[in-house]
Amino acid sequence: MKPVEIIKQPILKEMELFESKFKESMATKVPLLNRITQYIVRRKGKQMRPMFVFLVAKMVSGGKFEERTYRGASIIELIHTATLVHDDIVDDSNRRRGFFSINALWKNKIAVLVGDFLLSKGLLLSIDNEDFDILKLISVAVREMSEGELLQIEKARRLDITEEVYFEIIRQKTATLIAACCGIGAASVGSSSEEIEKMRLFGELIGIAFQIKDDLFDYTDAKIGKPTGIDIKEQKMTLPLIYALNNCTETERKWLINSVKKYNKNKKRVKEVITFVKEKGGIEYTTSKMKDYQNRALTILNSYPDSPYKDSLLTMVSYVIERKI
Ligand code: IPE
Ligand code: IPE
Ligand code: MG
Ligand code: MG
Repeated sequence: MKPVEIIKQPILKEMELFESKFKESMATKVPLLNRITQYIVRRKGKQMRPMFVFLVAKMVSGGKFEERTYRGASIIELIHTATLVHDDIVDDSNRRRGFFSINALWKNKIAVLVGDFLLSKGLLLSIDNEDFDILKLISVAVREMSEGELLQIEKARRLDITEEVYFEIIRQKTATLIAACCGIGAASVGSSSEEIEKMRLFGELIGIAFQIKDDLFDYTDAKIGKPTGIDIKEQKMTLPLIYALNNCTETERKWLINSVKKYNKNKKRVKEVITFVKEKGGIEYTTSKMKDYQNRALTILNSYPDSPYKDSLLTMVSYVIERKI
């Protein structure tokens, strides 16, 4: 069995029902929008975020489950999808989940509006059901994701990112939503505020490891269903490069910065930068940081008694790092 199948075992029924509810949650009478949402539903991703919602809900409550848990999972996946649609415009990326991105097929104008539609559908799903605690958790994440993407753009323009700022960017743009998944999972079954916060922190730690893995993929030619090698092209300086910058001579540093500033669209030069970063040990350093976050997440999980849900979450924590896509 593949890791994802093992992870899903204790939540098979929930994931199946989730898929039909998720599809329903995008319903619209506008024909163009309908075609696009159908395109999105057919090319589903790994669905890791709903899995986090369900597994956390069940782990903290000993297998309990509420209608609210499904809504939480749908909201998260709607918001996640909206941010991917917008992110591909921002990053000028033409592939997603092994197919063309929405902006590649329908252009930016339409993609911006589709993202807004999905975001509003997510928020309304909470509001219509008066899930205000969930709405609060989700809204904080939405705000932080926009802040994270903007901070990233600011740093890409100035090329003055530090390791500390890198971690703040990935915490905001990616980890905050996974933190919300785990917080919402706990909140949906009536956990105490301490427990919600504990699960939020668990999600944040594993979310940081998740984005580090994504940034490592960009330094490979792995077939992951979206372009690789585009971060430097977009002047995004991620941890492997930041490490190399902090561990080289002044001349090398000038060459690196100049490459990212002026030769970022030059494929040969970008390849040379990637090779340099690898020679400097940027990948090893980044991998060890990723594992630190993984271990901190594991410590939180291990404070819970054994259960099939905890087992799945443990597998999920390794999957985040070992995944091939
Ligand atoms: C992609 O997330 C965006 C990042 C935060 C790196 P996923 O890798 O979970 O995307 P899908 O949903 O599986 O396509
Ligand atoms: C994740 O960053 C951005 C989001 C939170 C949507 P990336 O820009 O690296 O994500 P991918 O690589 O396009 O999926
Ligand atoms: Mg992107
Ligand atoms: Mg990426």
